[in-house]
Formats: sequence, structure tokens, C-alpha cells
Amino acid sequence: SIPVPSVKELVSQSLKTVPHRYLWNLHDDHPTAPADTSLHVPVIDISNLLHPHFHQIELQKLHHACKNWGIFQLIGHEVCGESLNSMHRKSEEFFNLLPEEKKLYAQKLGSLEGYGQAFVISEDQKLEWCDMIFLKALPTNTRKLDFWPQQQPHNFREALDAYAHDMRNIAVSIIGFIAMALGLDAKTFSNAFKGGSYDVRMNCYPPCPEPERVIGISSHADISGITLLTDCGNIPGLQILKDGQWVFVEPITNGIVVNIGIIMEVVSNGIYKAPYHRACVNREKDRFSLVTFCYPDKKFEIKPAEQLIDSNSVALYKSFTYDEYMQSFYERTKLSDDGVPFVD
Ligand code: SIN
Ligand code: FE2
Repeated sequence: SIPVPSVKELVSQSLKTVPHRYLWNLHDDHPTAPADTSLHVPVIDISNLLHPHFHQIELQKLHHACKNWGIFQLIGHEVCGESLNSMHRKSEEFFNLLPEEKKLYAQKLGSLEGYGQAFVISEDQKLEWCDMIFLKALPTNTRKLDFWPQQQPHNFREALDAYAHDMRNIAVSIIGFIAMALGLDAKTFSNAFKGGSYDVRMNCYPPCPEPERVIGISSHADISGITLLTDCGNIPGLQILKDGQWVFVEPITNGIVVNIGIIMEVVSNGIYKAPYHRACVNREKDRFSLVTFCYPDKKFEIKPAEQLIDSNSVALYKSFTYDEYMQSFYERTKLSDDGVPFVD
């Protein structure tokens, strides 16, 4: 990334208006009807999925959530209350450090890891109203500890280690239920995600004097298998594009937002879709979020699951090695054989 000022530093100068590089024409972003407040992101209770009596009904709900929304809020999980809260505290403490302390962990030219901004590749590109730190967390041999805050905040590394392990457990378990919801064996993807990569992005969206003219993170679909997201302080910000309307994901206490990524879209042969989403900012308060991108291991072939392909359903996506897939990155249209876009 090309270094750009931290949004938090900008805001500390008591701006009345937003600098021009942060002004977006949000009608270009995607068709923007006003946010629809009558639609609600589905809620899935993992304790029901684990319960012999409620399993089947909850699995149906999960199937509909993945098919019709590509996103849901997961409740009823136990493993990660502690590690989640402490990671939220540590990330907030990190963003509240002095600029020179944060800069010790700044991104290096050409790499996403570290503290800074995502994907700043040109001097005249629009900027997002978001500071972030991006760290590869699992497997442990992918860690670049130079970018991991040390000393300040105290115990940041321990918190991230515990948080990442808990997120991996949740991801493996939810991926098992997603496989079942697709009619596949629960273990179909277990090993791939047990040995997969877990990349963590911590975001800070400072308050903005003109929130409706900026964007925290612009509209995109995640390239992960699935993405797990929490925000602390119950401040809404995440929006999901549903039937042409932006819908706020209303934070629920102890809820984890689960978002289908493009890898799961391919694997499900498009039965489940990776939804477009974006992050909005507000006028009053910092919003902090923790995002974990969950990927299968590098040997996993990214292609529609064979069990979903028969004489009635042809494969709608090509087969990719992990590396090929990563090279095709954001270009979703490259995923099908004929290059025909099959989403939106
Ligand atoms: C995203 O990761 O795309 C949105 C993050 C957020 O809600 O803060
Ligand atoms: Fe995302």
C-alpha cells in the first residue's frame, strides 16, 4: 500500500468538512436505494444446530440464510466470549496509541500486512474512512511478528493468539453445518479449514463530520471461504446488499456475523452467494470491528463440490488451485468457464 494519513489523525485536527480524497459518489458504489429497515439479517443459534430436536429446523434456517442472504448472525456459541472481549479491548487500545507508536507496525510498500489502509494503489484513488491493522494469525508459521504490536498494548499478541484459535474452532464448526445444509457430509471441508489460513483485520472507523459522503469500506464481496465479524459497542455500520437494497446488520450482543465468501460460493456451485457489503461510518463515535477471513488450506482445490454436480446441475464455476484463485482475486467474472457474470 501507498502510505496515506491515518483517519484518526485527520479527525484529531477537528475537521468541519471532509478532505476531497475521502468524498465518494456513493451512487457509483452500487445501486443505492435508501437503507431498508424492514429487512433483518437472519439469526442462527448454534446451540439449536447441536441439539437433537432442533437440529433439522435450524439447519433449514441456515440453508435459507446462506441461500437468500449469504450472511447471518450466529448466537448460542460459548467458546469465545472471553477471547473476543479481550481482543476488542486490545484492538481499541492499539488504535488509541500515539501515532508514532502505531507506526512501528506500519505496512511496508507492496504488502497488506500491518497497520495502515487497505489497497491504496494510486495517488488519486478515493480513500476509505478507516484505519486498520491486518495480520495473518494462523497457521502460526504464517505470522509476521514484526507487524504484531508488542509491549503496547500489553498482551496484544496473547489476545490475538487466543482469539484466532477460537475463531478457527467456530469456523470449522460452522463450515460443517454449512456442508450439511448443502446436503453434504459434515466433514467434507473440515480438514481443509482446520489446516486453513486465518487472517485478521481490525478496523477503526473514527467519527466523521459528513458521514453520508464517505465510506468506511466500499462495496465488495469477500474472497474468503467464510468471514467472521464482530463489532464492539453495538454501533451499526455494516450493510449488506439484499435485493438491491442496503440493509444494516444490527449488532446483537455476543452475536458473530458470518459472511459467505467467494470460495464457498464456488464450492456450493452458486447455491450460496457471497454477498456485497460495505461499512458505513457515523458522526459521533469511533466504531471498531474485528474481522477474520477463513481460508481452506492451500492444497484445497477450489471448485464446485462433486456431489452437487449431476446431469441436472452443471458446474457453474471453473476449478482453481488456491494460487490461481488468489490471482483472479476480485475479478469474479473470471470464475465461470464462459466468462459470463452470474451474480447480481
Ligand atoms: C467488512 O469487512 O467488509 C466490513 C467490516 C465492518 O463491518 O467493519
Ligand atoms: Fe468484507
